[in-house]
Amino acid sequence: MTELSRRKVLMAGGALGALGALSVATPAWTWAPEGSIAGAGVGADPRWVWDEEADPLVASLLDRGGVPEVNRLLWDWTRNDQPTPAGLPADVKAFIDHARQLPDWADRGKLEAAATFNKSRGLYLNLLNGVGGGMLSTAIPKEARAVYYSKGGADMEDRVAKTSILGFAVGALNAYRPDGNCIVNAVKTRLVHAAVRHLLQQSPHWDGTIPISQEDMLVTWHTLPTFAMRKMREWKVPIPAADAEAYLHVWQVTAHLLGIRDEYIPATWTAANAQSDQVLPRNMGPTPEGVILTDVLLGQLAEQTSPGSVSRPLCNALARYLVGNQVADWDAIPREPVWDPLIATVWPPLVRFREGLMPLPLVPAAAWVVDEAVRQYILFYLTKGQETKIEIPTINRPS
Ligand code: HEM
Repeated sequence: MTELSRRKVLMAGGALGALGALSVATPAWTWAPEGSIAGAGVGADPRWVWDEEADPLVASLLDRGGVPEVNRLLWDWTRNDQPTPAGLPADVKAFIDHARQLPDWADRGKLEAAATFNKSRGLYLNLLNGVGGGMLSTAIPKEARAVYYSKGGADMEDRVAKTSILGFAVGALNAYRPDGNCIVNAVKTRLVHAAVRHLLQQSPHWDGTIPISQEDMLVTWHTLPTFAMRKMREWKVPIPAADAEAYLHVWQVTAHLLGIRDEYIPATWTAANAQSDQVLPRNMGPTPEGVILTDVLLGQLAEQTSPGSVSRPLCNALARYLVGNQVADWDAIPREPVWDPLIATVWPPLVRFREGLMPLPLVPAAAWVVDEAVRQYILFYLTKGQETKIEIPTINRPS
């Protein structure tokens, strides 16, 4: 660990102790299943619910050494319309055949509308889901630890690349069309999460609990569509009601394919916001692991976007602007005296210009530096995802 990382860990440890937030007893689950896409449910606390179908399957596959062969067979399974590969163990094939089915409430029309919306709002969404979602996930202690101590924690570049595969699959024009790949990547991710649940419990760094509960899944889900929608509203991006509904829908379908139960998937934005307000605050805070992961992520962004155009201070400031001061402080993102106020000043006019609500001459010149940085970010995520595929891990973080 570098001296800088070590200092950050110590700082984060101190902040955690001072906050004491994580030791506070968690209130009971009160979100009503009537607000879910299922419209009903037993109302079980999702902290104690995992994935009944995938978990035993993948645990057994790991225990019998079958994962490498399954990964090999799934490598070329890439399109939504492709048959489940031949040669898979019968239990894996049966699981995938079932898991890849769209729910009966999936609405093709809305999925198409969502694809068009994702395209027209791609810049905001990629920024919010990629950089914003990334910075939020490191401020979710259970997720930060899970990522840090799992295989990909040791190779964040690969991990970012793999995660971006699903992000771009959801946002693609053909996401849920036959030639798209969202179904495939969501089902693969469901298998990866099941593997992580089994593997992490064997890690010497893990506390013995089962990771990635349904509540944890919901928390991360809200850092994606719910966070993005709230931010776009805050930025006054005009969004017709049908588009907002379609965007929610594509993420509802994705939640289902990732193994979130229908009784927890919010049916409306009102229900989603209420659920987000219940689960996010109690699941967020600082961790030493989150601080290190943030540092690695921002360092990668600054390094890998085209040299000279995006400096680390600009990356830091953009990240802070997206997630706000509390999360940025938890993540120990340094304050940037020049860039922090500048981004806050130029972002609103940049949005207004993009939305055709402000003429070009009124946009401050400095805005284009930020605009270019955003493009670089997105390009970075886009190209990363093309280099790899999602695979089921067989080990935890090796060192
Ligand atoms: C893996 C997305 C929730 C922890 C992945 C991958 C994707 C993904 C695309 C595959 C990339 C890879 O193999 O590295 C999502 C989405 C979620 C979600 C869309 C919710 C909507 C969670 C939660 C946790 C978590 C709640 C932990 C609390 C992990 C870990 C890996 C992983 C540890 C595997 C890393 C590895 O083997 O290196 N996730 N995830 N995820 N996810 Fe999630």
